[in-house]
Amino acid sequence: MAHDYFDAMYADDSDPWRFDTSWYERRKYQIALSLLPRQRYRRALEPGCSIGSFTELLATRCDELVAFDFHEPSVVNARDRLADAPQVHVRHETFPGFWPEGTGDLVVWSEVAYYLNTRGASRAIAGLQNWLEPGGDLLAVHYTGATNYPRPGAEIATWLDSVGWLERTVECIDPSFEAGVWTRSA
Ligand SMILES: C[S@@+](CC[C@H](N)C(=O)[O-])C[C@H]1O[C@@H](n2cnc3c(N)ncnc32)[C@H](O)[C@@H]1O
Repeated sequence: MAHDYFDAMYADDSDPWRFDTSWYERRKYQIALSLLPRQRYRRALEPGCSIGSFTELLATRCDELVAFDFHEPSVVNARDRLADAPQVHVRHETFPGFWPEGTGDLVVWSEVAYYLNTRGASRAIAGLQNWLEPGGDLLAVHYTGATNYPRPGAEIATWLDSVGWLERTVECIDPSFEAGVWTRSA
């Protein structure tokens, strides 16, 4: 989805989705964290991190976490928030083109995969295949109500289920969102 859409969303408000203050978002973060099968992850990747609200919580479970967003002011805010967390690296990068060198055992797509068009979705799966280690987890969390985004949130689980080397190992279906973990076959 175009950069302009997000520039407009953030124009007058650094937290237009109320990530830091709404009970809905805070509860969703806690549910998503509790779905992660492993107590700790060695190296995680979080595209579309915004101002770092979920990043801050994820950081408590990761030895290293690379988080990024293409909205630069949000990257600055996320870096400020995480200044005391040396294991977190916040980058100004674009999904699905950016995959840090090396591999990792956790990828988190929280409210970001539904912005992908068909080509972007193919690139995201190809990048994931290169980056996520065998046995590693993909956590996907998306609002399932109506939106004007390219990919309905309610279709993301079915899309990920269609990837042969991913197996859905955990799921939570809430009236407003779906959260699940897909584990890469060894
Ligand atoms: C709805 S917010 C989700 C924030 C965070 N993942 C969470 O769940 O709290 C979507 C964020 O993804 C970012 N974003 C959208 N498309 C992106 C892309 N192609 N590359 C990088 N960031 C993107 C937006 O700038 C925005 O900050």
